[in-house]
Amino acid sequence: MDDLSTIRSEALDAVGKAADLAALDAARVAALGKKGTVTGLMKTLGGMAPEQRKEFGARVNQLKGEIETEIEARKSLLGNAALSARLAAEKIDISLPARPETQGTLHPIGQVMDEVAAIFGEMGFTWAEGPDIEDDWHNFSALNIPPDHPARQMQDTFYLPSRADGTPMVLRTHTSPVQARTMLNKDVQKMLADGGALRIIVPGRTFRIDNDATHTPMFHQVEGLVIDRTTHMGHLKGCLVDFCRAFFEVDDLPLRFRPSYFPFTEPSAEVDIGCSWKGGELKIGAGESWLEILGSGMVHPNVIANCGLDPAVYQGFAFGMGIDRIAMLKYGIPDLRSFFESDLRWLRHYGFSALEGAAR
Ligand code: DAH
Repeated sequence: MDDLSTIRSEALDAVGKAADLAALDAARVAALGKKGTVTGLMKTLGGMAPEQRKEFGARVNQLKGEIETEIEARKSLLGNAALSARLAAEKIDISLPARPETQGTLHPIGQVMDEVAAIFGEMGFTWAEGPDIEDDWHNFSALNIPPDHPARQMQDTFYLPSRADGTPMVLRTHTSPVQARTMLNKDVQKMLADGGALRIIVPGRTFRIDNDATHTPMFHQVEGLVIDRTTHMGHLKGCLVDFCRAFFEVDDLPLRFRPSYFPFTEPSAEVDIGCSWKGGELKIGAGESWLEILGSGMVHPNVIANCGLDPAVYQGFAFGMGIDRIAMLKYGIPDLRSFFESDLRWLRHYGFSALEGAAR
């Protein structure tokens, strides 16, 4: 009797204290295994008188059942604890990539290109592109700048080795060659012949031999071109006034159209916006001062003819401005060279969230 209750309490104690599944199994083997304490009791039954065997056998069987039940209960408890521990240890923090500090920023140039495209997009302009490596004809001659023209010297050109067929090549000095490429396009010519109007902007890279706080050898321009049969200087003015006011977000921004000269336009105008300087700080808006921001004019009849269109039928206006320059002015960035140094601190400071986008 004593034996049985000692074995019982030892076995249940071992089961209850088992800290993991391995310890629990050891407790099971100690009681119910081949050489276990309860199994040992079973073995004593053989030597007992039938009456005693019946009574003792029933008690040992009951004990065996009791221990098995306890083992099962402990097993499911330990199993749940083990699963919870694993889940906690292997937890994946799916919120990590969405943390703001891991987000990149948009470069001010890309941002400003998008802002410019959004404003002209509302006026019906589409985005056109051309190659950075351009031939001399598209970059100069088509635009009414023949080989001996002094205007070629104004553009500090990077000359490249000529093509195998002798075509002289350059890094394009402005986005204006895309005017010629677009007007020469057969689909565009057909669209114009059918009475349509051409309205493009050309944002892109341009290159000149120049390097100081406001000039870099690679910079960005956006060209604009409108061609149809009736567009005149009044449209040019209205379009650029609307653009500048929208871009600089100053509703009454004054603009000054100054007569100027470009080989590819006649008449030509440089455009200034009003500004003021207070305590060395630039403020864009009506003020005592002016800032030049773009060149423009009515497309020269020679350019229209060079591009395979009849200047007696077609006319329009064009303009060109520096993207980097208007980005510096709008966002108060003092040094152009910093745009291209890829300094992460600069990019975080002047960069834009993708969600700010061109929210116009
Ligand atoms: N291509 C000129 C430059 O790079 C800018 C320009 C002026 C473009 C007048 C034009 C224009 O289309 O009409 O300096």
